[in-house]
Amino acid sequence: MESITAASRPLLPAYYTDPAVLAAEQRRVFARTWQLAGHVSDLPEPGSRIVARAGDQEVLVVRDEDGELHAHRNVCRHRGARLVAAPEQHAAIRCPYHGWTYRLDGRLIGAPEGRRFAAPLDKPNLGLLPARVEVWHGLVFVNLDTRAAPLADQLYGLDRLVGRYLGDRLVPVGRSRMHDIADPAGTGVVGTEANWKVAVDNYLEGYHVPVAHPGLMRLLDYQNYTAEPSEGYAYFEAPLRETRSANRLERLYQRLVSPMPGLLPEDRDVWRYVAIYPNTMIDLSADCVGVWSMVPDGVGRTLLPGAIYRHRDAGLRTRLAQAVGQRVNRLVTDEDDDIVSRVQAGLRTPGFTPGPLSEREAAIGWFADRIRTDLGIDAPAEDGGR
Ligand code: FES
Repeated sequence: MESITAASRPLLPAYYTDPAVLAAEQRRVFARTWQLAGHVSDLPEPGSRIVARAGDQEVLVVRDEDGELHAHRNVCRHRGARLVAAPEQHAAIRCPYHGWTYRLDGRLIGAPEGRRFAAPLDKPNLGLLPARVEVWHGLVFVNLDTRAAPLADQLYGLDRLVGRYLGDRLVPVGRSRMHDIADPAGTGVVGTEANWKVAVDNYLEGYHVPVAHPGLMRLLDYQNYTAEPSEGYAYFEAPLRETRSANRLERLYQRLVSPMPGLLPEDRDVWRYVAIYPNTMIDLSADCVGVWSMVPDGVGRTLLPGAIYRHRDAGLRTRLAQAVGQRVNRLVTDEDDDIVSRVQAGLRTPGFTPGPLSEREAAIGWFADRIRTDLGIDAPAEDGGR
């Protein structure tokens, strides 16, 4: 397990409660980092498109006629209308306001009544504003920073640990999708009443499992829960207990669970987790893969768009295990929802400063250091910023 160093310290409350910090995070974190947009199965055909979020900004992801993906800012170059509000598929991108039309690669094709403009439209300079898109083992990521370092650099070493769980052979299970974030109220994206970093912090440590998650405690070998923060991500392993749970549903899961095609026999006995800086989470078990992200919705609220996938050739037993596992997980999610909202409420207490981190909270120190570094002079004043 990663050990806590003297330099590891949690973030001060202002990071979680001050709207000015959230505004700085938009510029210094969300405008520069890779954000999970979905899975390649969300963009099955030429012309398919989805909308992703990078903090409070939208990114349109489109598959072109040759199968290549493109990312554009989701705004028309005429008067700024939002171009796409839900997944759809068309041969071009047509603005719903006055009908300016763009190729899938973002170039402006034309505008209705083009001769009524004072000068011919400068089409080469009126294409959609670009963003970056990359695919990592079937997962689609976007970045507002067109000069950002490749995602593969940030995830160096992670392929070896979890690449076998992922890829384009995954198929979605259930109705939830990452791109539901484009219409969170309409699509029922889950939210939680806490700053996005409170939610990330909670994901990054297993210290709370014995007290807050009695069901998980019956399934996981807590003593051997490990956390390994790297530069660009943190990786966790939670071995499953060999002893049978006293809970009927959990016992059923233990009996049914078996590795999906492509996994190793030993993958049956461990749950793995990955937190990709800043806000992408991947849950990997023998029976399914869950992906989700923590998207700020104001300083004290977070949206949690996500989706579950399984290998398309997974057998009936694996699918049953997955259904049972999801019921177990739902309880854990409710427990986490309660915890993070309690933390957010407590962080508003005047005079409160956080206590020391346990070794089991090493990844929180890693995340806090990354946030401090990224915010730089825009960190809260009491932490050395403006
Ligand atoms: Fe898009 Fe006018 S705002 S065509």
